Amino acid sequence: MKNTYYHQLLENNKEWVTQKLEQDKDYFKTLAEGQSPPVLWIGCADSRVPANQITGTLPGEMFVHRNIANMVVHTDMNMLSVLDYAVNFLKVKHIIVCGHYGCGGVQAAMQNKSLGLINKWVRNIKEVYKDNKTELKKIDNERERFDRLVELNVIAQVYDLAKTSTVQQAWKDDTGLEIHGWVYGLKDGLIKDLRVSMDSAAHLDEIFTLDLD
Ligand code: CO
Repeated sequence: MKNTYYHQLLENNKEWVTQKLEQDKDYFKTLAEGQSPPVLWIGCADSRVPANQITGTLPGEMFVHRNIANMVVHTDMNMLSVLDYAVNFLKVKHIIVCGHYGCGGVQAAMQNKSLGLINKWVRNIKEVYKDNKTELKKIDNERERFDRLVELNVIAQVYDLAKTSTVQQAWKDDTGLEIHGWVYGLKDGLIKDLRVSMDSAAHLDEIFTLDLD
């Protein structure tokens, strides 16, 4: 095989290991002993939004789940398993749903174009559009409407997190779990806190409140 970009990645890895060991000879030994991350990150799969780099966090600090448009879909066993493990075994204190402006998944949801298999995933974002149609239709500028749907989608996912039995049980057990909604700006690198944080004092719509032991 030719020397390709792919081979370079493996070379980069070796260099990274050397650097880390120069700084701390026990770096990998310590990390291998276990993890106790304070944060579960639910973010977009977009290559430009790497959870650790944009928050200045290190390996071991964030348990990460990423999918197209940072969705919390209640039939998604992958997301539900990550959530359950993070909350009940790792005992994370914060769950952060982080969307980003310019999100291709959200943009796809605003259009009628058929995208094949992805339609099924994007459909969940279309529900957010439908639920907020009145507010969105008042925004004439398409870019601004797009930005707002990105924010509304994050807010909807935070509420969807609150509706899970995993989060409700943690709140009932008073573990101190907080959930938050953020949006990352691709153009300036800054994170906007949407100020929709919820903790055990949160009041869910009655119909979503589960009777838990
Ligand atoms: Co995205």
